[in-house]
Amino acid sequence: MTARNKNSRDAAGTRVRIAPSLLSADFAHLADAVAMCEAGGADWLHVDVMDGVFVPNLTFGAKVIETLRKLSKLPLDVHLMVVEPEKYFDDFAAAGASGLTIHVEVAPHLQRQLARIKELGCAAGVALNPATPVDSVSEIVADLDLLLIMTVNPGFGGQKFIAGSIDKVRRARALLDAQDSKAVLEVDGGISRDTIARVYDAGANTFVAGNAVFAARDPQKEIAALRAACAKRA
Ligand code: DX5
Ligand code: ZN
Repeated sequence: MTARNKNSRDAAGTRVRIAPSLLSADFAHLADAVAMCEAGGADWLHVDVMDGVFVPNLTFGAKVIETLRKLSKLPLDVHLMVVEPEKYFDDFAAAGASGLTIHVEVAPHLQRQLARIKELGCAAGVALNPATPVDSVSEIVADLDLLLIMTVNPGFGGQKFIAGSIDKVRRARALLDAQDSKAVLEVDGGISRDTIARVYDAGANTFVAGNAVFAARDPQKEIAALRAACAKRA
């Protein structure tokens, strides 16, 4: 175990959590994709909401979250890649989101927005784009249930992991630890068997994986392989 991993358990006591991103699933067979994730031992389902404004792509809204909620008991980790995210909090919470993560780049009133997410009974997360410094959340660490470090520029699945993210995750871990935060430290983008161990070593404990899982010959085995790649380093 590296020194940093001693600290990487979050409030739930979890050291490795795999969250397949349904963005890479076959939407015509969403129920099968969800069942596969459950059978494969996924911890969370990662749900990417895009508005075509904050990111150059469109996905889905509350209706799909409601459908997913009916299909699975797994926590729904909803990643809001949208401007004015507060417009959607009530509907998404009512639809069954477990956590709502908003981007700091479009959230000028973070404390107020995070407080509202918690009031609605959801875990409150903040995501940072690759170009956004870790320091952008240094004043609100105490308000965070989850910090998401994007390891690609958001908008699409299947992009290449940005290598410089490893050091950023290390700095994010240091920031959380310095304030005794037990927030989840999540990474998203280009996570695969080749990249996950280094990000785990840097102190992340929750790993979103889209393409790696859904393009694998055996997606269930891939979920296990991602987890195993971390376990080897523990
Ligand atoms: C990127 C999304 C990710 C994406 C990850 O904009 O936020 O959740 O689905 O996909 P992979 O793992 O394929 O990079
Ligand atoms: Zn995402």
